[in-house]
Amino acid sequence: MTDRLKVAVLVSGHGSNLQALIDACQKPGFPAQIVRVISNVKGAFGIQRALKAGIPHSVIDHLKFENRTDFEAQINDELESCSAELVCLAGFMRLLTGSFVKKWRGRLVNIHPSLLPAFKGLDTHARALAAGVKIAGCTIHYVSQGMDAGPIIAQAAVPVMPNDSEDILAARILQQEHIIFPLALKMIAERRVKIEDGRVHIDGITPNNSVIISPVLN
Ligand code: GAR
Repeated sequence: MTDRLKVAVLVSGHGSNLQALIDACQKPGFPAQIVRVISNVKGAFGIQRALKAGIPHSVIDHLKFENRTDFEAQINDELESCSAELVCLAGFMRLLTGSFVKKWRGRLVNIHPSLLPAFKGLDTHARALAAGVKIAGCTIHYVSQGMDAGPIIAQAAVPVMPNDSEDILAARILQQEHIIFPLALKMIAERRVKIEDGRVHIDGITPNNSVIISPVLN
């Protein structure tokens, strides 16, 4: 396939979502390819994953820059040099400036471990548990200005169990992140995702009438 969407993935840490994207892109006929992985953290395991998969990668350490603008200019240069058509933030833990977001608007997607617009920002799982929600989840969204804001592409919901710790809930949600990120990438690469009036519309989706009710009684 020659016209696969060229994707760059930005990571800060473990990179399990990056791995889910790598695995998806390696499947025959998948309509996207990862052309670059960039980490802002030296030693991030995500870089090892890129290395293993033979994907060009680099570390752009934000600590080495005097300001966000210079840091992002370097990221931007690398994204342009690999002709990235879409940028996936996969556990990228730096806030991006308005000008970067504006430049990549409609070509920049993020994963967040909550059912946005609930629980934006850090400590998502702790706050979900403290709020006593019975259903939690994760979201893939286009990035617009503002933290964890922008048109929602896909979400997955999971039940919250009475004895969940942050780690247990995070792991349950992470499993679903690994499903919806490749799903969203596939839909975008197939050019089925349109933003209209600040909301996402997807061509040709099958209605899903399944519900999650939580808790369930024995
Ligand atoms: C994921 O849970 C992702 O949703 C979250 O960081 C984790 C990265 O895990 N992202 C955010 O919180 C962004 N606001 P990974 O490095 O194993 O993919």
